[in-house]
Amino acid sequence: MALGGLEMLQAEIAEVGAVHPVGRVFEVGQGTISVSGLTTRATLGDRAQIHTRASGLFDAEVIALSRGGVTLLADGAVEGIAIGDRVEILGQAGIAPDDSWVGRIVDPFGRPLDGRPLLRGPLERNVRAAPPAAATRGRLGGRVETGLDVFNTLLPLVQGQRIGLFAGSGVGKSSLLAKFAKGVQADVVVIALIGERGRELREFVEKTMGAEGMARAVIVAATSDQSPLVRRRCGWAAMSVAEHFRDQGKHVLFLADSVTRFAEAHREVALAGGEPPSLRGYPPSTAHQIMSLAERSGPGPEGTGAITAVFSVLVAGSDMEEPVADILRGTLDGHVVLDRAIAERGRFPAIDLLRSVSRSLPDAASPAENALISKARKLLGAYDRAEMMIQAGLYANGSDPVVDAAIRVWPALDAFIAQDAPDRVAASFSRLAKALSGAG
Ligand SMILES: Nc1ncnc2c1ncn2[C@@H]1O[C@H](COP(=O)(O)OP(=O)(O)OP(=O)(O)O)[C@@H](O)[C@H]1O
Ligand SMILES: [Mg+2]
Repeated sequence: MALGGLEMLQAEIAEVGAVHPVGRVFEVGQGTISVSGLTTRATLGDRAQIHTRASGLFDAEVIALSRGGVTLLADGAVEGIAIGDRVEILGQAGIAPDDSWVGRIVDPFGRPLDGRPLLRGPLERNVRAAPPAAATRGRLGGRVETGLDVFNTLLPLVQGQRIGLFAGSGVGKSSLLAKFAKGVQADVVVIALIGERGRELREFVEKTMGAEGMARAVIVAATSDQSPLVRRRCGWAAMSVAEHFRDQGKHVLFLADSVTRFAEAHREVALAGGEPPSLRGYPPSTAHQIMSLAERSGPGPEGTGAITAVFSVLVAGSDMEEPVADILRGTLDGHVVLDRAIAERGRFPAIDLLRSVSRSLPDAASPAENALISKARKLLGAYDRAEMMIQAGLYANGSDPVVDAAIRVWPALDAFIAQDAPDRVAASFSRLAKALSGAG
């Protein structure tokens, strides 16, 4: 629905409340500010503004409420805030995405980051929206084309599926997400870039995505220099943008890079709010935060579209027990593991196929396709178990027919995993069959 200029202006004006409750700063701690006079007026998550006498306006958010007062966390440094400074509660700040945001880069408050004016959409959405109720949700949809042979065949992706992408630093997470952004069949792509360095954001947009990738994408970004409140909000705000398009019946591809940075931002906010650390420094609420973000993606309520999602997770070494990885793995419909050793020998994407699964199988594929998938997995498994012997020259040809076959097809299978798929899923399966044909 397109709104005229007048309606747009009216919508803007409606957002501007006439009176905001006001309190006073009575304590300034390490990043947090305690405020009196607002205990019954503020709500958790409200945005606030601190009017300092010395240094102008500071933006902040309500992170804890108690009888003693309201605790705020400032978006930036707190130097310059003094006892007695006036604090204004602005209420919950939503985001109002618009169809015209496609091709644009926005911050988690819906402000443009690419230097051009940005239109506000007609409807303000809650950035912390609840996931659709399970009973009203549609089912997983059909297989989508992904632009990569391996995801068209061995690790299929269906509409509304949610997968995790687990890898150490510099193993190719962002590059693979960009490939998805360009190649996965979807109406709109929404990308949450959480906690990247400013330089990386620019490089991602200009080089990795390029004009081709940006043509159907909205990027919501919060760089590493921003406050944990803003970085955490980036995950939520991007999901709200995805929901905007989903509610129009569109198929949205949501890419988050990375959930680890989202969880770290939450940890900083929660610890500042007084929550105790537990799981390796993460407060107990972390699991809920990650799961409710992931739950917002997936098939939408009946009559809407779907959000197919890929969440990247930074794992140190190959430590899949790391808390963020562990929490996410349980809620997702599949995971892809990237391996440093594979990246080091130069095969990209560096997918460790034996440790990666898509839970949309076997339903996503036909019986003949499932047979090919099983055969490929079996041969890759046999090669993997014998690899040390093979590399060391200790394997004697003929001692195990399965290993013999695996050795014959391995180069073709390895190349297949790296291959782009400019065409249909069926063509990817033909190439897989060809790669396996040497097995006999
Ligand atoms: N498809 C590819 N082809 C060739 N090289 C690649 C490919 N994907 C990744 N690389 C190499 O790996 C490097 C790291 O990739 P990328 O930035 O995607 O990793 P990352 O996991 O997102 O890293 P970080 O943890 O720093 O965010 C790239 O600079 C590039 O050299
Ligand atoms: Mg990256």
